[in-house]
Amino acid sequence: MLSYQHEYHAGNFADVHKHLVLWLVLDALLARPKPFVAVDLFAGSGQYALDRGPAARSGEWREGIGRLWSLDRGPERLRVWLDAIRGLQTDPGRLMTYPGSPELIRRRLREQDQLVACELHPGAFAALQDALRTDSRCHLHRRDAREASRALFPPEPRRGLALLDPAYERVQEYVEVPEMTREIRRRWNTGIILVWYPLLEEGRHPQLRDALLSRHPGESILFSELRLSDPPRGPGLQGSGVAVLNVPWQLDRQLSETLFPAWQRLDPERRGGLFQALTLENTGGRPHFERIESIVTPARKDVTDHD
Ligand SMILES: C[S@@+](CC[C@H](N)C(=O)[O-])C[C@H]1O[C@@H](n2cnc3c(N)ncnc32)[C@H](O)[C@@H]1O
Repeated sequence: MLSYQHEYHAGNFADVHKHLVLWLVLDALLARPKPFVAVDLFAGSGQYALDRGPAARSGEWREGIGRLWSLDRGPERLRVWLDAIRGLQTDPGRLMTYPGSPELIRRRLREQDQLVACELHPGAFAALQDALRTDSRCHLHRRDAREASRALFPPEPRRGLALLDPAYERVQEYVEVPEMTREIRRRWNTGIILVWYPLLEEGRHPQLRDALLSRHPGESILFSELRLSDPPRGPGLQGSGVAVLNVPWQLDRQLSETLFPAWQRLDPERRGGLFQALTLENTGGRPHFERIESIVTPARKDVTDHD
């Protein structure tokens, strides 16, 4: 049942999209000194080698982090995120490792903050333990995320985020995820919830969006979707989507500003696009997506790199 291995997909365009949204939500939590907790319900391994093993064989990261790696201009948040990834490399000039969500979160924790990470796959959990167990701010559970979405909420402290990004290899996951977000919200009315979903040709993402909207009436929800011209994982995966429930202040502006130059690099033919929809007080209607056409900060020019 647990056949999915994130090792093959680490650092691909969808990972990059999801991690940039996560990064910006962490920025919002870090803006105040009050402690926060990040609950990563489908944590994966923590860190992934790109120069050997499954990621090297699939090569998906080349069309993801590989396309952004050399950027040295652009919005500050994008540069800071890239610098964090550069800081992970043993040879700073060579991209050989990519952080999974728990490692990315861990690197941003202050003394007062915590990470709770759940992973069910025995191999991925062992790797997660190897990567994070010496850090006392990190609490690792070999646990089913569906059960954890009831048992681990509300977390202490109450301020924080939950991340849900299953592989969606089982159709049932499109139903389970909105159920999980509802269970989490029933217990934790202040948390920010992030849900990643794939945009597949003839996919189920419209139903997933609708289910999130109907399970969270009255709540602010931001959808960010990134599409590529020629998706590298074959005709199936067209793009990547992230829904943020209980949207931090100005996240929509910060996201479009940060993601637009990233999308320009990820989609050199520019036939895909970056789309956003914000419902401030969700009344259950369909989300109205707008295409992000330019970087929002007017003074900035298109992004170039140094090589
Ligand atoms: C897409 S990957 C996670 C990627 C990771 N969050 C990141 O961004 O780097 C999904 C992970 O969820 C794990 N998983 C699948 N079903 C699970 C379940 N019911 N409970 C907990 N983990 C599960 C898989 O083994 C896999 O490692």
